Amino acid sequence: MTDRILLEIETGGIARLRLNRPDKLNALDSEMVDELVLRCRKVERSTTRVVILSGEGKAFCAGGDIAAWSEETPDAFGRHWVRDGHTAFDALARLRQPVIAVLDGHALGGGLELAACADVRIAEEQIKIGSPETGLGIIPGWSGTQRTVRRFGAQAVRRMAILGEVFSAEEAERLGIVDRVVPTGEAEQAADEMAAKVLERSPRATELAKMMVNAAEGEERERVIEALAGTIAASSDDLAIGLAAFREKRKPDFGDT
Ligand code: COA
Repeated sequence: MTDRILLEIETGGIARLRLNRPDKLNALDSEMVDELVLRCRKVERSTTRVVILSGEGKAFCAGGDIAAWSEETPDAFGRHWVRDGHTAFDALARLRQPVIAVLDGHALGGGLELAACADVRIAEEQIKIGSPETGLGIIPGWSGTQRTVRRFGAQAVRRMAILGEVFSAEEAERLGIVDRVVPTGEAEQAADEMAAKVLERSPRATELAKMMVNAAEGEERERVIEALAGTIAASSDDLAIGLAAFREKRKPDFGDT
């Protein structure tokens, strides 16, 4: 484990997840991708109620580490680089807690794909957003043509991924890619204020609302359905009756419904 993805779980219910590779504009390599999975698991199992995702230094994230992925064989690229990225980004997008992304620097390529995993994006007015991959001879491979299309709409993604357009924060807000634009230097504070509002709301209802929206969007339908049904089943007397019968090696008597 490196310290290039920092996680701070605060007592007040906020978790801060921070990319910490400022010298490379927080470009993500394999170790960071694996680290993200572990950090998400820790958040998932904590009492955290809202996550603030940000990047150290001048960029939010300049994408996948070009030096790292360009060394991969085509097979390793498809089998590991792309698939591992999906595992990590799925874990982030499917956290039960709402995630607020602080875009106080550029979000390009994998950085845009990472930001897309958040529930809300707050961008500073000076930042740029885009998918430059086709200019490098590769495709956006960490869900930059899939989750981004579901969340931002196909046309905005076409403009970034096919035409190579790079959007200003203002244009990205107009297209629904970011939710709010704030002056330079104010995104972190805006995220804190937004997180404080989330913390005023019912934790359970907020978590359920996120699950339902994710299910409606096709983000994680099977898991949501089974998690909700599992909670209902586990809350009923039937579980205690069934388990007691199992322990006592007899048939359960569930009675009437
Ligand atoms: N992968 C690996 N390293 C990256 C990187 C990436 N995606 N993006 C930036 N870096 C590195 C640079 O190589 C440089 O390292 P060095 O100081 O060892 O040379 C360092 O981060 C700073 O970047 P630099 O290009 O000098 O900063 P800048 O402010 O002049 O330009 C960008 C900023 C974002 C416009 C430019 O870095 C860029 O175009 N990055 C690539 C974006 C991209 O194509 N992402 C998709 C990748 S699939």
